Amino acid sequence: MSNSVLAVEATGIAKSYGTVQALKPTDLRIEPNEYYVLLGPSGGGKTTTLRLIAGLVRPTAGRISIYGQDVTELAPDKRSTSMVFQSYALFPHMTVEENVAYGLTLRRMPRDEIRAEVSRMLDLVGLNGYDNRRPHELSGGQQQRVQLARSLVLHSDILLLDEPLAALDAKLRKDMCLELKNIQKTVGVTFVHVTHNQEEAMTVADRIGLVAGGELVEQGSPEAIYNRPEKRFTADFIGENNIFDGTATGAGLDIGGRVLGLPTPAETGREISLSVRSEDMRLLDGEPKPEGWQALSGTLIDKVYLGLIGSSVVRLESGQDITVRQVGAMSSGEVGASVTVAWPTEAGRIHLS
Ligand SMILES: Nc1ncnc2c1ncn2[C@@H]1O[C@H](COP(=O)(O)OP(=O)(O)OP(=O)(O)O)[C@@H](O)[C@H]1O
Ligand SMILES: [Mg+2]
Repeated sequence: MSNSVLAVEATGIAKSYGTVQALKPTDLRIEPNEYYVLLGPSGGGKTTTLRLIAGLVRPTAGRISIYGQDVTELAPDKRSTSMVFQSYALFPHMTVEENVAYGLTLRRMPRDEIRAEVSRMLDLVGLNGYDNRRPHELSGGQQQRVQLARSLVLHSDILLLDEPLAALDAKLRKDMCLELKNIQKTVGVTFVHVTHNQEEAMTVADRIGLVAGGELVEQGSPEAIYNRPEKRFTADFIGENNIFDGTATGAGLDIGGRVLGLPTPAETGREISLSVRSEDMRLLDGEPKPEGWQALSGTLIDKVYLGLIGSSVVRLESGQDITVRQVGAMSSGEVGASVTVAWPTEAGRIHLS
């Protein structure tokens, strides 16, 4: 019917464990060759979503198709998916080469073909020459790469990765992120990658789906999710945002005694939220509030210098803490000083829910 077959198309897919709704009825559409990341807090339903795609758990409701084929009733090994687990799960007694070759051996592929294929994959993940090592002779990052090679060698249409970099330290994780992205572009396979790490998600994803409370809260490109979050939850979870909750007065937001200007008018009487990124805020050092800006006074309660940027925390009279991040110069005020935080009105984003 349509000439654009989706890699994954889930309709009303849901999973309950007894009374726990791990995933509420959800629609999910992932494009071929897309690098899709499921991001969200612990217990939100990310792994459940991945396992539903893999067929490792059966949905309580809904249908799921992979490349146009309804796989809802299909066993995991009959699906063109392959899973990379968080734990390394390598066979400790086998060499790197044997580990990577394992799936192909089961498929009874001729020995010389296996050899060529394994060698190609080890090249791809940067482990050329490690063929004869055993897992305990490898670093965490190298073991992770072997796992990746072991999955990629099967040439599944969809690679499912559950927290694949969680065991790595921050620096190695960063390097592996860039490599994962490169590998995905090279092999042209659809990746669905689960993480609770925001930076990891922003680095690898073509598109991020934010999963929390058993719901797909919002999805979009990393840029869109960061700069134009639609939901309050997204603004709270992604980046460092200051959020004001209140009642719309048309052009403004009543936050209890104070009315803040909104970037665009909102329906009077409606409960809404306004978010402003910490890097869009400034501390006014005595100078007057610029035209078209909003300002609130408070007390400087913390100052942290983070290298390139300085971060200040200001406690408003309402008791709410506001984070201000500025490149270069730190606020000249001392902790305990009265200060004014300000931001351009148009830097605010309105959240209706
Ligand atoms: N086999 C199970 N039996 C009962 N409840 C389960 C089972 N698996 C998951 N759950 C529950 O379903 C919810 C979602 O779990 P899920 O593993 O999908 O979360 P997650 O987003 O992957 O979290 P994490 O980031 O901690 O891995 C949680 O409340 C969890 O306790
Ligand atoms: Mg999980």
